[in-house]
Amino acid sequence: METISKINKVEDYYDYACLAPIIDKISDVSMMADYERAFLNSLIRQYKPKKLLELGVAKGGSSVVMLNAIKDIEDAKLYSIDYLDYLYCDNSKKVGYAVKERVPELVNRWELKTNGLPCDFMDEIGGDIDFVLIDTMHINPGEILDFLMVLPYLKENAVVVFHDTALHVISSEPCQFKIANTNNLLMSAIKGKKILPEFFDSHIFPNIGAVELNKSTRENIWDIFNIIKQPWVYAINQEEVGKIVNCFEKQYGTKLTNIFVKAANFYNSDLDSATKILNSVDVKKIIKKVRFALIKYFLFYKFGVGKQRKYYKKLYKETKIKYEQIKHN
Ligand SMILES: C[S@@+](CC[C@H](N)C(=O)[O-])C[C@H]1O[C@@H](n2cnc3c(N)ncnc32)[C@H](O)[C@@H]1O
Repeated sequence: METISKINKVEDYYDYACLAPIIDKISDVSMMADYERAFLNSLIRQYKPKKLLELGVAKGGSSVVMLNAIKDIEDAKLYSIDYLDYLYCDNSKKVGYAVKERVPELVNRWELKTNGLPCDFMDEIGGDIDFVLIDTMHINPGEILDFLMVLPYLKENAVVVFHDTALHVISSEPCQFKIANTNNLLMSAIKGKKILPEFFDSHIFPNIGAVELNKSTRENIWDIFNIIKQPWVYAINQEEVGKIVNCFEKQYGTKLTNIFVKAANFYNSDLDSATKILNSVDVKKIIKKVRFALIKYFLFYKFGVGKQRKYYKKLYKETKIKYEQIKHN
């Protein structure tokens, strides 16, 4: 295990000189703490990747950090994927809007794909990816499936950064977010060199980390499939199960894919009826908004600060009422 530490000059290590020009531009759209953005920036500055992938865009705060970090790396390009077209917290705003709005000069280094799962876009994006940020659901099966969908397109030594690796321990109260442990599970299950920030604040464990993949990552792929068996927090609709099965069959074969198939059969029928309603084909549009909205609003209402917390508290309550209405119709 390696740490990006504050030994000697933390400013140089994190390359704040590179990060500084965008900090004020994204202060209201970024969903990362200062040290998390610095960690992401510093890894890109050190590894100098050429083909980068981001799963989970929201307003585009982390996209801006990544684009800014590659601005002087010749031919480097960022591909970003989000499940939604419009923000889960404000459906009048397009996913990734902050990139065009705040750093228009970097848009030519960026390609955004929305309204689908990573497996819908990976053939088009192609292989040879050498750097990835994964920041999507944080609850099972979430990023476990996302990582497996993109792994075949990564270089052998690609660096994969996971955000919100400590979301499950951030609350001081006993709360539901103990379930947000997916990225911490992945940090253990994926074999490779682990990289963590030594300098961090506001959490008892670092809330971001990375794995530099190597040959053993693929040799130990069962270790990752095995955590799909951990309890699921949300159901996946049949159409998406089908897409994921096709992707896994093609990349990993039937034996490993069957772990996903069995888990999907078990947990999809085990999850409560409300979740099933949210995943029915008839209300597909609604679930896209409500499923993310409820989870995310609650996260921000719990863990946000100041004005942000108040705003999300209000949204959480309003969305919950709408959700109850859908549930009973
Ligand atoms: C926590 S936000 C991302 C925040 C962003 N990385 C940042 O730091 O500014 C999570 C986003 O992931 C998206 N998402 C959820 N599941 C996804 C999936 N399987 N693939 C891609 N995006 C997904 C949601 O729509 C949401 O916009």
